[in-house]
Parts: sequence; C-alpha cells; structure tokens
Amino acid sequence: MNILFVCLGNICRSPSAEAVFNGVIRREGLEHLFRVDSAGTMAYHAGENADVRMQSHAIKRGYNLTSISRKIQPEDFKTFDLIVAMDNANLRDLKRMAPDKEAEKKIVKMTDFSQEHNYNEVPDPYYGGAAGFELVLDLLEDSCNGLLQYVQQKKLISE
Ligand code: 4NP
Repeated sequence: MNILFVCLGNICRSPSAEAVFNGVIRREGLEHLFRVDSAGTMAYHAGENADVRMQSHAIKRGYNLTSISRKIQPEDFKTFDLIVAMDNANLRDLKRMAPDKEAEKKIVKMTDFSQEHNYNEVPDPYYGGAAGFELVLDLLEDSCNGLLQYVQQKKLISE
C-alpha cells in the first residue's frame, strides 16, 4: 500500500508524519507492505531538508527526518492509494488538484485517524514556538497508530 503525507512546505509536518508512520509499521513488522512518502502543496522549500527545529524535536523521540522537500506532482494521485492531508487548507488544495473523482476519493485528513486527541487538523508549527512542534508530534503519534488500525480493519494490506 502506498501512502503519501502532505502539508504546505513538506519541511515540518509531512516529513514528520512519514517518519512517525515508518516507526509504527516497523514496530509492527509491516514495513515491507508499505511505500511511504511525503510532499508539499507548494514548492517554496523544494530541495531542502526538514526544518531544523522540527528535526531537533523529532530526534528526541527517536525519529530521524531524512526526506527532502518536494511539491506534489500529478502522477502522485495515481501512484499513491491514500493521500493524507495535515490541515484543512491542505485538504482543500489537494481536492482542487485531484485530476478526477477516483483521485479525490484517496484524499483524507490525518486527524480523522486520531483516537486520543480532539483536533480537526495538525496545526502549522512554522511561525510558532517549541510547543507547536511538540503538538505536531503528539498528534502524529496518535493519528499514525489510528491510520494503521484503519488500514488493517479495512483489509487494505495483505501478506
Ligand atoms: P509544513 O510547515 O507545511 O508543516 O512543512 C511550513 C513550512 C514552511 C512554511 C509554512 C509552513 N512557509 O510559509 O514557508
């Protein structure tokens, strides 16, 4: 199963989502069943490493952010089975970019899978302080666990 996490710049939230979800599927011994990637709805930071503040918060929880920022491409809507938006603006932008109804059905929101927290999006941490980066990781750890449960319950993966 191919999963693409998407935020605005692809330097804070979606690279973290990619690392957290990779951690979840590794923990469960399921990484061979997934292809996981991330992208941004804008190209402004394309070619850059993840934001150093996001990297330093992530590494304290054991997540190494290795992805290089890239903008989402039309073919991503074909390659990926699930396209996971971090916030409501990303969701709206992705729905506008989707080439057809089939592609549009693949778009979901990260917090839809949240079980412990009651946020309806993963807030953009870029212009805020340390607490915002910690909140991103709290929400992602919760919702990535929920996402794997969803995939398993819906039987979207098989050996
Ligand atoms: P991200 O955070 O969408 O989580 O990667 C942001 C990164 C860059 C900007 C905004 C949000 N920016 O305005 O450059």
